[in-house]
Parts: sequence; structure tokens; C-alpha cells
Amino acid sequence: MNILVTGCAGFIGSNFVYYYLRKHPERKIIGLDNLTYAGNIDNLSGLTEEEKKRFSFIKGNICDAELVEQIFNEHEIDGIINFAAESHVDRSIHDPQIFLKTNILGTQILLDAAKKHWQSESGWKCLEDSNNLAKAQSSNPANLQSCKPAKFLQISTDEVYGALGASGFFTEKTPLDPHSPYSASKASADLIVKAYHDTFGMPVNITRCSNNYGPYQFPEKLIPLMINNALNHKPLPVYGDGRQIRDWLYVEDHCKAIDFVFENGKSGEVYNIGGHNERENIYIVKKIIEILREKTGDGELNESLIKHVTDRLGHDRRYGIDPTKITQELGWKPSIMFDEGIEMTIDWYLNNSEWVESVISGEYLVFYNKNYKI
Ligand code: NAD
Ligand code: DAU
Repeated sequence: MNILVTGCAGFIGSNFVYYYLRKHPERKIIGLDNLTYAGNIDNLSGLTEEEKKRFSFIKGNICDAELVEQIFNEHEIDGIINFAAESHVDRSIHDPQIFLKTNILGTQILLDAAKKHWQSESGWKCLEDSNNLAKAQSSNPANLQSCKPAKFLQISTDEVYGALGASGFFTEKTPLDPHSPYSASKASADLIVKAYHDTFGMPVNITRCSNNYGPYQFPEKLIPLMINNALNHKPLPVYGDGRQIRDWLYVEDHCKAIDFVFENGKSGEVYNIGGHNERENIYIVKKIIEILREKTGDGELNESLIKHVTDRLGHDRRYGIDPTKITQELGWKPSIMFDEGIEMTIDWYLNNSEWVESVISGEYLVFYNKNYKI
């Protein structure tokens, strides 16, 4: 079984490649990533020799329809997991266009290629059929349950739901109400994925996860930015009053949930992913300072580094996921609690200062040049 994993060199994509190749020793991944500032193929240098044999990397853009077509022609693609995206809200406020191109158009190009290669007169490509053709009729998506179909899994975000007040949680039925260009582009992509299911019967799932943290996250996002700045005694920029709430999930738990949905998610369904771990930003920043001071013994690492700065435009106040559906239907639940996950994350950044330096400076192609010359 060959899975096309787009955005495989980014934060969650690379964590997913490790997780998936280890979890499914008989499967292969074709990774597609155009290595933007956020993508770093060195993230995958820890694959074992055996795992590298099951991982092929293609440097390219999901918006390049010819390349995507070529990938489908050259590889038997049995599923797509689309992580590729512009993912940083602040960047989307300064320069929205690339978000619309990659996140919306790129998704549609992948959907079109999958439709072309997976749909035939007798239905959709079916993974367990000997002749690989679904008996199910495309006009009746319910019939698709009679085989295990090739599937398009769109990795979306809880930000498509907008912001919560002091109480309540996002469920899969919460109306879409995105506020930033980033979340609007992700919501648009979700609607297009849904349209390919509703119109053509394409087997799809959409996952909407809360904020992830863990190894290989680019140090522009809250947790790695604060770790890196604190270690360098640089100011810790807290937007506004710092009382905004995010619902943090360790990245490996997200990867596990994606695997569950890809395997057993009911076609056409959306699954929210989150572990009821809501924290105010200011709590996260203070916690990072406390742990770092303890681990490094550096007394200058203290709360005087915190600087309240101008708030993010359109800043969503609170996110909180209700994960009942994925827990009850698919049996997923998080395994790594925040106190453990944040320690593991801080340890990873302490032990990988060279990685941080290299991604910030853009000089991160050592492994890539050695192993994957274009
Ligand atoms: P990231 O920015 O770390 O990685 C994105 C990857 O996509 C990079 O490797 C980049 O090079 C690649 N990419 C960007 N544009 C591309 C293009 N046009 N063609 C091919 N590759 C391209 O992002 P992330 O945090 O790993 O997020 C991955 C996915 O998960 C995104 O779709 C994001 O919306 C979603 N998500 C992220 C979080 C989070 O907390 N980070 C939470 C929920 C959902
Ligand atoms: O909720 C899922 C989303 O989480 C993903 O879809 C996005 O791809 C991912 O980037 C993340 O978005 P956020 O905007 O929530 O993450 P970020 O790390 O940028 O910010 C987290 C919170 O911290 C947010 O309330 C803004 C605040 N913040 C962030 C930065 C970078 C600060 O106060 N200071 C900062 O310097």
C-alpha cells in the first residue's frame, strides 16, 4: 500500500512519517513537499535504513498539476493524506495570497488527480478487491462501505470554527466561521473536499485538530518560539493580555488519531481531534520559563523576559475541542498529558539547538543534498 503524504517535511507531516512507517511495516510513503521555509527534509534523517526504503521523497508543489499527475502515473497511490499548507496565522495576515494558492487550489489539484485515477465506471478504487475496482456505485456513497476504498484525508484545523466564548466546545456540527486568511483558506479547502464527496461520491475524511506541539515545530509558533527566545534571553512577545486560550495536543497523539481516521473513518465524515487541554497563552509561557530555568540552572531566565506586545489582528479568543465523536466511533484518546509532553518537547529543543539554528538560518539542506539530489 502506497500513501501519498503531502507536506511530509513539515512539523506534523514529518512526525507522521515516523509514526506511520513504524506502525505499518508493510506500507510505503511517497512524500511530496516543496520545502518552503517551514519544510525541512532533514527532519526525516532519523528514519532507519529499512524505513528509508519505504519512503520516497519528491520535491514539488501540490499546485503543480502536471507533477501530481506524474506521481499518480508512476506510483500506485492508495491514499492521500494532505498536510501540505501554509500554516502560520501571522503570515496569513501579512500576505494572504500564498495561503489561498496552496491551501485551496493545491487541495483541489490533489482531489482532481485522485478522482481521475481512482474513479472508474464501476466505482471507486477499492483496496481489498483483487482487481482493485470498487463494486460500489459512485452515486451511492453508502455502498462504499462494502469495500475499503482508497481515501483522501484532508488535515484541517479547529480554527475553521472561529472563536469560542468562555464556555462550550467545538463539535463537528459547529458552523464554520473562520476569521483569519489562514483559517478561511482551510475552511474553503474543507468545503471543496466535502463537495468532491457529495458530488462525485469520493471517499474522503476531514480531521480538525487543535494546537499541536512537539519536536520539529518551526520556531515561529508559540511554544518553540518561546523556548528559543528564552534560551537566548530575548524578549518573549505575548500578544495582548495573553489570556487567549488554546487546546494543546502532543503531536504524536495527533498522528495516532490521523491513522485511526485513515483506517476506519466513515467516508464523508469530519472528525475533531483534541484532548481537553486548554491553557491560557500566558500560562504556557510561564511554564516554559519555569521548566527551562530548572533544567539549565540559568537564573536570568525569568518572567522579566515577558513583553506584552500589540495583539494579533482578529485574534481568536478561545479554542476548545469536543473529541467525543472520534473517541466513541474510533476508540482514539490521547496518551500524552501536557506536563509530560511539554517536558519532552523542551528536552527535544534543548538537545537539538543545531536544528533550530539551521532552520532559522535556512541552512538546513545538508541531509537533503546528500540523499535526495534533485
Ligand atoms: P508546517 O508549516 O510545519 O508544514 C507545512 C509543510 O507543507 C512544509 O513542509 C511545507 O514545505 C509544505 N508545503 C507548503 N506549501 C506546499 C506546497 N505548495 N506544496 C507542497 N508542500 C508544501 O505545518 P504543520 O504545523 O505541520 O501543519 C500541517 C497541517 O496540519 C496543515 O495543513 C495545518 O493546517 C494542519 N494543522 C496544524 C496544526 C498545528 O498546530 N500545527 C493543528 C491542526 C491542523
Ligand atoms: O488551532 C490549530 C492551529 O494552531 C493550526 O491550524 C495552525 O496551523 C497553528 O499555527 C496554530 O495556530 P495558532 O495561531 O493558535 O498558533 P500560534 O503558535 O501562532 O499561536 C498560539 C497562541 O499564542 C495564539 O493565541 C497567538 C499567541 N502568540 C503566538 C506567537 C507566535 C503569542 O502570544 N505570541 C507569539 O509570538
